Amino acid sequence: MHLKSNRRAFVKSATLAGAAITLPAFRYSRVLGANARLGIASVGTGGKGWSDLNGVAASPQVEVLGLCDIDSSTSHLGQAAMKYSNARRYEDWRKLLDESKDIQGILVSTPDFMHAPIALAAMQLGKHVFCQKPLTHTVFEARQMQMAAKKFQVMTQMCNQIQSHSAYRTAVQIVHSGMIGKVKEVHSWQGSKPTWLRHIARPEGADPIPNHVRWDLWQGVAPERPYKEGMYHPFNWRGWQAYGTGQLGDFGCHILDPVFKSLALHAPKTLTASAPSIMPDSWTDQATVKFVFPGTEFTQGSSIRVTWYDAVDISPNRGLFADIPSEYKLPRAGSVLVGEKGTLVIPHVAMPTLFPEEKFPTDKTPIMPEVDHYVQWADACRGEGKTTSHFDYASPLTETVLLGTIGIRFPGQELHWDSKAMKIVNHAKAQDWLTKPYRKGWEPTWIS
Ligand SMILES: NC(=O)c1ccc[n+]([C@@H]2O[C@H](COP(=O)([O-])OP(=O)(O)OC[C@H]3O[C@@H](n4cnc5c(N)ncnc54)[C@H](O)[C@@H]3O)[C@@H](O)[C@H]2O)c1
Repeated sequence: MHLKSNRRAFVKSATLAGAAITLPAFRYSRVLGANARLGIASVGTGGKGWSDLNGVAASPQVEVLGLCDIDSSTSHLGQAAMKYSNARRYEDWRKLLDESKDIQGILVSTPDFMHAPIALAAMQLGKHVFCQKPLTHTVFEARQMQMAAKKFQVMTQMCNQIQSHSAYRTAVQIVHSGMIGKVKEVHSWQGSKPTWLRHIARPEGADPIPNHVRWDLWQGVAPERPYKEGMYHPFNWRGWQAYGTGQLGDFGCHILDPVFKSLALHAPKTLTASAPSIMPDSWTDQATVKFVFPGTEFTQGSSIRVTWYDAVDISPNRGLFADIPSEYKLPRAGSVLVGEKGTLVIPHVAMPTLFPEEKFPTDKTPIMPEVDHYVQWADACRGEGKTTSHFDYASPLTETVLLGTIGIRFPGQELHWDSKAMKIVNHAKAQDWLTKPYRKGWEPTWIS
């Protein structure tokens, strides 16, 4: 009850903006000259952050100037500090930003719930941002990220890096070329159950905080909780509502990406989930979400249905895929796009397959080359080319995925989304979940 009223009050006041994390209002960077080097800093240098950092730093035009992690052990800050030994080291990203005069680009590779607070603060300083998927923890934050990128004219890239893989680029090209005709319906899935903790009660008690972990900094904007070994940091935060976005949040921005790109989708009109009832703190371990989007130039009719299956066996639906022979083994994760002239299977992550096979000989399928998703961002910051998962694209994709996670809270109920007004128009309780309360003293400075 208390949470509900906080949430409502917040939605109301959020557009007016109140700020506890105050940062200087001037900006250092814009697009650099083509010969200039890009100074970067990484926030979250362990886990996926390690490959993000190395991916961007692979550009000879990039200099790593700052490293920030709340965990000083070898697999987190330690290995990055060893490799980029000249870079300044931080445990608090706010201090890094305070001292970031020489830095033009920030990598955000923390758990989901800290993406927006860090990235928004960085963009407000005029920094270019490379941010992990899903772009944010809430729908409201996703819209804020889009607004900030536009307002501060910075180069952005969400790290759904498979978008730049030859497989996904080829799938998008196939749809755009008209090979399968207008698309009639889409089914996307992650068939495996996640390996991380989920659908459990919050553990009781507290464990000693290891000396190398700054637990208070890890919690950031989230509600304060006792440290529990192996429960949250690292990696297992995914299954907890306060920190992660469940399996749909974890995989949606990857698997739905070629669907969004190829069909030029933007925002769903409605969504309906079916899922077991959700525990108070953790995410469910399976769900199905049916999204209906307005039709586009690549779809048949005035709307298109996209169904997401989360740890649900897709095989009982094979009857929907008339072009696919029964002996073909569907991938463990991926999408099927049923078109007027053929059916496209987009495995996650492998080259797409077209059906009926006799109609689409493999040697005739155009193969798109791979692009370096990381260096593409660094180059764009330096004035060379553009990014493809900039926040104008990544925010609507993330909003859709996170709307799906709201739907999971209200199984069986059709939610009607008005993207322009940012309203779930028929469901006040679902509307409340577009945003969340922030820990006192950690409230982001919102964009208006
Ligand atoms: N694009 C992909 O293929 C892919 C793959 C895995 C993870 N991810 C995403 O990457 C992000 C991180 O996931 P992970 O699996 O690496 O998590 P993790 O918990 O294993 O690693 C996160 C790292 O960030 C550090 N960290 C946490 N909070 C911090 C803070 N406030 N300031 C500085 N450092 C902080 C941690 O100490 C750790 O080093 C998530 O958003 C996740 O969804 C993306």
